[in-house]
Amino acid sequence: MKKLLLKELWEKLWKRPTAKWLLGIPVGAFLFLGLGAGGLLTFNVSMQMTNSNEFCVGCHIGMDTVVEEYRESIHYKNVHGLSASCADCHVPEPFLEKMETKIRSGIKDIYKKYWVKDINLG
Ligand code: HEC
Ligand code: HEC
Repeated sequence: MKKLLLKELWEKLWKRPTAKWLLGIPVGAFLFLGLGAGGLLTFNVSMQMTNSNEFCVGCHIGMDTVVEEYRESIHYKNVHGLSASCADCHVPEPFLEKMETKIRSGIKDIYKKYWVKDINLG
C-alpha cells in the first residue's frame, strides 16, 4: 500500500504539467533543481568555512605554538598587507586531493581532539 503511494507520487512528479506557467517542465525537475542548488550551496559554504583561519585556529590555539608563530610570521604580517591563510599552505587546491585531505584529517583531528585523552590539547 505504502509502496504504491510512493510510486504514484513519483510518477506525478515527472508527468508533463498541464498548467501553462510550468512551461511543460515536470514539477519533479524543479524540485530536483532546487535540491541540487541547495546541496551545492551547502557544500560550497562548508568548503569555505573549513578553509577559514578561524576554523583551524579554533583547535590549534593552545595546542602548540603554531598560531602564535604564524601571527608573528611574514606570512601573516608584511608590508603588502596580504596574508597566506592556514589552508593556503595546508589544504591542496585540486578537488580530489582537497576532498581527501578534508575527510582524512577531519576524522583524525576530531578523533584526537575529542577522544584521545593522553595528549595535551587546548
Ligand atoms: C577539530 C580540531 C582541529 C581542527 C578544526 C583543525 N585541526 Fe589540525 N590538528 C588537530 C589535531 C588534534 C592534530 C594532531 C594530530 C596528530 O597528533 O597526529 C592536528 C594536526 C595538524 C597538522 C600536523 C600534521 C598532521 O597531520 O599531524 C597540521 C599541518 C594541521 N593540523 C593543520 C590544520 C589546518 C590547516 C586546519 C584548518 C584547515 C586545521 N588543522 C584544523 C586538530 C584540528
Ligand atoms: C606559508 C605557509 C604556511 C602557513 C600560512 C601556515 N603553515 Fe603550518 N606549516 C607550514 C609548513 C611548510 C610546515 C612544516 C614545517 C615543518 O615540518 O617544520 C607547517 C607545519 C604546521 C604544523 C605541524 C607543526 C609540527 O610541529 O610538526 C601545524 C600544526 C601547522 N603547520 C598548522 C598551521 C596553522 C593552524 C596555520 C594557520 C594559523 C598554519 N599552519 C599556517 C606552512 C604554513
